Amino acid sequence: MDKLQDTIDVLKMYNQNHIINLLNNLEGSKREELLEQLNKIDFHQIMELYDNTKKNIEIKENKIEALKYLDKQKLTKEQKEKFDRLGEEAIKNNEYAVVTMAGGQGTRLGHTGPKGTFKLDVYGKGKYLFEILADNLKEANKKYNVSIPWYIMTSKENNQETVDFLEKNNYFGYNKDDVTIFTQSQLPLVDVNGKLLINKDMKIKEASDGNGGTYTSLRASGSLANMKEKGIKWIFIGGVDNVLLKMVDVTLLGMAIDKQVQIASKSVAKANPKEKVGVFCKMNGHPKVIEYAELPEKMAEEVDDDGELKYGESHIMCNLYTIDAIEKISKESLMYHSAFKKNSYIDENGKEVIPQEPNSYKFESFIFDAFEFFDDIAILRGKREDDFAPVKNKEGVDSPKTTKELYEKYWERQQRNA
Ligand code: UD1
Repeated sequence: MDKLQDTIDVLKMYNQNHIINLLNNLEGSKREELLEQLNKIDFHQIMELYDNTKKNIEIKENKIEALKYLDKQKLTKEQKEKFDRLGEEAIKNNEYAVVTMAGGQGTRLGHTGPKGTFKLDVYGKGKYLFEILADNLKEANKKYNVSIPWYIMTSKENNQETVDFLEKNNYFGYNKDDVTIFTQSQLPLVDVNGKLLINKDMKIKEASDGNGGTYTSLRASGSLANMKEKGIKWIFIGGVDNVLLKMVDVTLLGMAIDKQVQIASKSVAKANPKEKVGVFCKMNGHPKVIEYAELPEKMAEEVDDDGELKYGESHIMCNLYTIDAIEKISKESLMYHSAFKKNSYIDENGKEVIPQEPNSYKFESFIFDAFEFFDDIAILRGKREDDFAPVKNKEGVDSPKTTKELYEKYWERQQRNA
């Protein structure tokens, strides 16, 4: 009873009377389950995040500078050979692991299910996104005669479906012992009045806490400890939806080793000021990515003396870290960004409401916000046609149609050059 009263006191303090009503109307295990969930929620944090939604994000331009990068195409022969040798050595010494962030759903794509289970219509037969990633890793394993440990991050929402899918497809021929699946955490959704939404199952409605959750989830799941045990020194973290993503690029790795940096990333030149990608810059002397939704139009259009976009190095979710960097980040708290979205919920009368307009805030941390914990980052500019073909939208840019074309063209070129 005390536990119940304590929870009710907390709910009153944070103005969540609708949840008290719900608790009073539930019985037995349903009530216990809700209580258990409520006791894990940090209401102070959620209300702070809610309050922040009312403040404007300010980016003071005078503290922002463009970030230097090396262009892979313009490296000297000696530079390229040196980087490749260093990178290859580390991979052959089994010091390299890969993490795929696959917590997202294919909502924007109109795909129901984990995004990695989306099938791209290539070569008649089609290929799943997970299959394309597995192929890329298998190719590297063969080339360097290793078996790279592959960690896949799912969300609570899609974990079971992802596991079942990979099992059913026999991990697309990847050595199952080298695949570890771990799950990211969630945060409650909050309406415009700061009330937590109630889900159909009479629990608090939660959603994944963004891909910045990767670091703490790597630690909490034991994956980081597992990597250490294996003697891993470098960790690659990438997304699930770029069908040209090179997860094992010896030039990128060798450049990071040579420059003795803790973090490195591959970029491509931004296609146009409006492209929906984050861009690299330096803020207050630290590396940073400004996400597309937060980049002021004026900055997006600014050009340098060569006529190139000043903030034109796109973040393509192709990031590399030392294990010490991951260890450090996993103990820090990243900032949260809010997104105003449509979310169905159960109202005071127990009826489900499916909103036609955005009605609630989702809080997410972003993977790249960890870059500012470091003084430096090494950036290697890749080539768009070789490195970046994400599948994001049902139609138009970054759609299955454009991605298929880029994927098939890339492999045609590879065959011609073989
Ligand atoms: C992302 C990047 C953006 C970059 C673009 C390139 C972020 C916040 N933005 O944008 O800077 O230019 O990709 O394609 O990273 N994910 C999770 N858990 C979550 C949320 C996302 O694992 O809670 C994963 C997704 O499965 C996907 C990746 O993170 O692999 C990207 O997420 P998404 O929300 O699609 O980001 P974009 O808006 O495409």
